[in-house]
Amino acid sequence: MTDPISVAVIGAGMAGRSHAHAYRTAQTVYGSEAPPVRLAAIADVNEAFATSTAQRYGFERAETSWQAVAEADDIDAVSIVVANHLHREIAEALLAAGKHVLCEKPLAPTVADAEAMVKAAEAADRVAATGFSYRRSPAISAIRDQVQAGTLGDLLHFNGRYWCDYSADPQAPSSWRYTGPLGSGALADIGSHLIDIAEQLCGPILTINGASLPIVIRDRPVPLAAALGHAAGVAVSDVRAPVTNDDIATFVVEFANGAAGTFSVSRVAHGYPNALGFDLFGADGAASFDLGRNSEFGFVDSTPDPVTNGWRRVLVGPQHPYIQAAQSMPFAGVGHGGQEFFTYQARTFLDEIAGLKRLPAPATFADGLRNLQVEAAIVAAARTGAAVSVDHLTPVAGNRSGIGVEPVKDSAEV
Ligand SMILES: NC(=O)c1ccc[n+]([C@@H]2O[C@H](COP(=O)([O-])OP(=O)(O)OC[C@H]3O[C@@H](n4cnc5c(N)ncnc54)[C@H](O)[C@@H]3O)[C@@H](O)[C@H]2O)c1
Repeated sequence: MTDPISVAVIGAGMAGRSHAHAYRTAQTVYGSEAPPVRLAAIADVNEAFATSTAQRYGFERAETSWQAVAEADDIDAVSIVVANHLHREIAEALLAAGKHVLCEKPLAPTVADAEAMVKAAEAADRVAATGFSYRRSPAISAIRDQVQAGTLGDLLHFNGRYWCDYSADPQAPSSWRYTGPLGSGALADIGSHLIDIAEQLCGPILTINGASLPIVIRDRPVPLAAALGHAAGVAVSDVRAPVTNDDIATFVVEFANGAAGTFSVSRVAHGYPNALGFDLFGADGAASFDLGRNSEFGFVDSTPDPVTNGWRRVLVGPQHPYIQAAQSMPFAGVGHGGQEFFTYQARTFLDEIAGLKRLPAPATFADGLRNLQVEAAIVAAARTGAAVSVDHLTPVAGNRSGIGVEPVKDSAEV
């Protein structure tokens, strides 16, 4: 039997637990060609989080520092799932120590940090992936296949929304999510996913034609205990800390292929816990997705007779990406959840390490940098009130028309 790939997760908070679960279940999807996975370590400065997560998902040990993982000789591959300002230091140390790295999105707090991380990845010659988990949605992948097959014709309009309500309550506690510069709030936290999906479907964004990044709740209470994720239910003090980044992000873009994009992102959308969705309109058809109905998508084209034509609800099944080789019951209508996106993402990362080419390659650090360049242009558009071109266009992996797009001339400073 081949040697196992030995994995660790740094950060045992909300998303860290999804990564831990994903490494455990990655072994159960896409057949047995891949090397086995050894669940080595969970690291978190909060010892209770590290210990309970290691125990829950069957990892061999818990560590209380990321350095213990970087220095360990028995670990090959590591997920970084901590606050964004910690990503660069940890990624650089792991890559220098010869580990493969899967880093959560946004790749870094700034474009400069992400550029340094891309350089570190190039120097290390290791797999360096970014956690754009929605690339692994079977329904979104199925829509992307249709775009690439040309079924929708020339793309005209992407209308996307990512509405969450984790910050809707002004009494929801302060955390690292609220303290960065403008653009590091709703835009980077959840808008980053929507931007990546849009570029996966439509190719690169060329210009931001208008943007607004309002802060609508100006301060939040300081929590009295360690909190994870969105910290719901944690006791808070009377002291309030300022909110320095965006609660809402709206922006309008032009894609390099001429299509228009309209985006609405919010973390204060009361009643919408995690509502990502989009409509994509082409000259010959349209497709739609709603995360609340994960395992289906909407589709309309001109093929059926006009008398019975209209939007149809397509249940994702074995003829669509990921289902046949990954689900235990690979039938339409059985359904799946967002956790599977993390499992498929982990599988892709492990396959890349093993040199297997069974699935679309993982999003790279360069993709993470590209995403931050778009977000920086959105911030510049919101600040200046002017249209801003996305500087230094880098290829968007796997897109239809974006590879090799020339950098934009006369672009505004971002
Ligand atoms: N892909 C997705 O769908 C998705 C979803 C949620 C979060 N995320 C990303 O995951 C990352 C973490 O977000 P989260 O919501 O899980 O955060 P979180 O606050 O729930 O968890 C972060 C964890 O890091 C630990 N930690 C803090 N400093 C540490 C250190 N120096 N060393 C080791 N551990 C440390 C904390 O104790 C906490 O348990 C962010 O980059 C976020 O954007 C991605």
